[in-house]
Amino acid sequence: MDSIKVFVPGRLCLFGEHSDWAGKYRLENDAINKGYAIVTGIEEGIEAEIKKASTFKIKNGSKNFECEMNLDKLKEVAGTDPYWCYAAGVAAVLKGKYNVGGIDIDITNVTLPEKKGLSSSAALCVLIARAYSKLYNLNLDIKKEMDIAYLGETQTPSKCGRLDQACAFGKKPILMEFDGDKINYKEIPVGGDFYFVFADLMSHKDTVKILNDLNKSFPFPRCLSDEKVQYCLGALNELNVTLATKLLKEGDSYSLGKLMIKAQKDFDKLVAPNSSELEAPILHNLFNDSKVHEYCYGYKGVGSQGDGSIQFLCKDKESQRKLLDYLTTDLKLNAYSLTFDKTSIIKKAIIPLAGYGTRMFPVTKAIKKAFLPLPDKDGLTKPVLMILLEELYNSGITEFCLVIDEEEKEIYDAFFSDLSKEVYDKLSPEAKKYEDFIRKIGSMVTYAYQKEKLGLGHAVSCAKEFAGNEDVLLVLGDQVYQTNNVTPVSKQLLDYYAKNRNAIVTASLTPLEDVYKYGILTGEISNNANAFSVSKMTEKPDTDFASKYLYTTNDGKKEYYSVFGEYVLTPKVFELLDQNINNGKTEKGEYQITSVLDEIRKTDGLYAFIPDGEMVDVGNSNSYQKAFVKRLGTYPIK
Ligand code: UTP
Repeated sequence: MDSIKVFVPGRLCLFGEHSDWAGKYRLENDAINKGYAIVTGIEEGIEAEIKKASTFKIKNGSKNFECEMNLDKLKEVAGTDPYWCYAAGVAAVLKGKYNVGGIDIDITNVTLPEKKGLSSSAALCVLIARAYSKLYNLNLDIKKEMDIAYLGETQTPSKCGRLDQACAFGKKPILMEFDGDKINYKEIPVGGDFYFVFADLMSHKDTVKILNDLNKSFPFPRCLSDEKVQYCLGALNELNVTLATKLLKEGDSYSLGKLMIKAQKDFDKLVAPNSSELEAPILHNLFNDSKVHEYCYGYKGVGSQGDGSIQFLCKDKESQRKLLDYLTTDLKLNAYSLTFDKTSIIKKAIIPLAGYGTRMFPVTKAIKKAFLPLPDKDGLTKPVLMILLEELYNSGITEFCLVIDEEEKEIYDAFFSDLSKEVYDKLSPEAKKYEDFIRKIGSMVTYAYQKEKLGLGHAVSCAKEFAGNEDVLLVLGDQVYQTNNVTPVSKQLLDYYAKNRNAIVTASLTPLEDVYKYGILTGEISNNANAFSVSKMTEKPDTDFASKYLYTTNDGKKEYYSVFGEYVLTPKVFELLDQNINNGKTEKGEYQITSVLDEIRKTDGLYAFIPDGEMVDVGNSNSYQKAFVKRLGTYPIK
């Protein structure tokens, strides 16, 4: 395999600094509160080109390092080398756990300032865990990447907390909970636009001293001031973080800014008196700056606090621009913007492929449905799965989770891995290009395993960890889509989602005589819209019943819409699927997704989106044959 590029951002703790290690003291004193923090990846980060090698090699500009991929040697480097310790620490953990081989890491771009409370070391650790996962097919999900990055950093003399590795999530606010040595995390869906700026104060702070001073108040308070520290990092912090989460969800920038100021005041009053490093005169001077007041709703310290970095929440985009300009030009600080916008886009798709494919017997005795051939517009004959992945990739999806039977992993791995050089050299230039694309897509694929074929709903629930509390796309593995315009069907769905963050099913206009074959969606369409709010979902109704009760009115006309096969799932879908599975609530022996979506419809609402395109089903012999002929008609052999 050629090299892969991996980028991992730094992270910013918006609220809840120090609560990660404080929450860990619950192991010794259960009266201590759980820790809570809101953490986000930033735009700046570390980028590297990485490939397999026989040794452990790392290079950053003119500095480089190489050693044998030997556990004792790596541990020694992790414990002693001030510069390469982090990388070696993670490699040591992976060598110990998975007996991985060597790696060649070329750090090509670092836009992240080091030692400024933005966790450049954690970003490097996550980057190495991710690179190993991709190169050696370890299939680490984000939580596992974070665990390995953390364990890697604990091999070094640095005392990192569990909060730092949240950079693995990328630029989105994550609510983290720290309970003893357990962590939980949840993405916070942002309900409005938030314009942050953060800046390096170009001063100095001694993080080790801050941590040593504050740790003295744990696990058992010795005096009133220890109690104040525990209260501020515990119960009071929980209140602040809970409120901040609510305000982010509601899109209330003004109140969030005021809460930042309050959280800083709490910290200054209750925690700062315990460490001289927290007097932070430069930070506090900026809090009083009139320009800051003009452009911002709020401001507070960053990371361990002290005179390291500062964060601001600006009033709007224009104020963000003006503040950046003021900080960099007038105050000569390094300042960066961080914007959360409401329309954050889905990047993940789940593709269930574990079904047996009885309707396509006997070909499925020899080949997985996913690898059935279909002609494509570029003249190549492709496996159905690649046509689907290509469509999703062209729609902006960058993480794919294939739900498969574990025994079939080899088949998929073989497909996504290198061709022998001998065969590759024989390929035509177009085929070579496509083979490179297959490998690129392969680096974005992870697997979830379905142990028993218990239905689509069950298959989806197997990808719960991958979804990780985010809205995700669900695409059935035995369909492909054909757009009627230039925008892929999946992109049309994602564009609709950007404006309507909700659970969504795609819908297709269906003749009344065919409704008995499908799940039917009922609603009301006005003004020729391409979407409607679903008022009823009915599985395979009979024609008479449908004509009386299940039509959708479209400007007075009666129409019938069936489920098309592509969905946006919210985290609640996974919760409800789990409940059904735990209660053994099957339908005809299988766990289904339709009943769960109907539940969501009742509580949160469900939208039907009608794409300008067609779904081509390859799941049964008749439709596959039609699909093949139809695509040959649409994309004739050159
Ligand atoms: P289907 O309903 O077409 O089931 O699943 P199937 O097993 O593939 O095919 P038949 O009905 O036996 O012919 C729709 C999608 O959900 C996946 C399938 O692989 C297909 O992509 N699926 C279904 C699973 O991953 N696991 C299951 O338990 C059921």
